[in-house]
Amino acid sequence: MASDTRGALVVVGSGPGIGSHVARTFSSHGFKRIILLSRDPSRLEKDAQFIRNKTPSANVSTLPIDLANTSGIPSALAQVDKALGDTPLEVVLFNAARVGPSTLVEWPMEELELDIKIKITGCYAVVQWAVPKLLAAKKSHKPAFLCTSGSIYKEPIPEVFSLSVCKAGQHNLVHSMHKKYKEEGVYCGMVVVGGVVADEHPECNAENIANKTWALYESRDDLQVEIVDP
Ligand SMILES: NC(=O)c1ccc[n+]([C@@H]2O[C@H](COP(=O)([O-])OP(=O)(O)OC[C@H]3O[C@@H](n4cnc5c(N)ncnc54)[C@H](OP(=O)(O)O)[C@@H]3O)[C@@H](O)[C@H]2O)c1
Repeated sequence: MASDTRGALVVVGSGPGIGSHVARTFSSHGFKRIILLSRDPSRLEKDAQFIRNKTPSANVSTLPIDLANTSGIPSALAQVDKALGDTPLEVVLFNAARVGPSTLVEWPMEELELDIKIKITGCYAVVQWAVPKLLAAKKSHKPAFLCTSGSIYKEPIPEVFSLSVCKAGQHNLVHSMHKKYKEEGVYCGMVVVGGVVADEHPECNAENIANKTWALYESRDDLQVEIVDP
């Protein structure tokens, strides 16, 4: 597809790691319209500059969203609609996560609820917003809903059980979407990172993960790619 016919990429949960690297990789493959969302506006502006440094022609917007505030998500996404204007939504990356230890059984119920809000309810709210737009783009574009995860979705780590529980639920949601929308022309897939993201890791570095995300998007076949260090 010619780069000038690409639609927009929206990254929900942008940050200096996977989020901004995926956006930068997609921009270098012709996605010129990029919208980044997370909670910290000044940090988001750094992510935007990171993309512009590689693709000066990229049109990058940043918008605030707090996925922990479920009732505020529709109004945040309405701002994305405004920013999109006439540009079709082509790809969504759901990448937001609250990462940290959660000790069995001291971890308060409210904290588990908060994790579920961000990673499952928040993801579903973005899915509800995105899917009709992605379906509308299928004749002229290659629409996709992508989500980052970790191998803990299938192999939980007790010390981060709350994150593991949420990743299992999120994976299940995207698996359902993969089954339902594949035939309807919208690819839904998971980028599963099986280790800590760090520059010095041969596979689990943000640049390589972004390249693998692009390859998954281009092939539009398997449910997921799993990235692990040797
Ligand atoms: N980092 C790792 O070692 C690792 C390992 C395996 C899997 N993963 C997965 O990779 C993804 C994240 O990639 P990354 O770790 O490289 O992070 P990243 O892309 O650098 O940033 C993710 C961003 O999510 C945002 N976020 C967190 N809570 C949010 C909320 N309530 N509402 C909106 N945005 C929120 C944060 O920005 P604000 O704080 O500004 O909101 C954060 O900068 C997650 O799916 C994670 O589970 C990471």
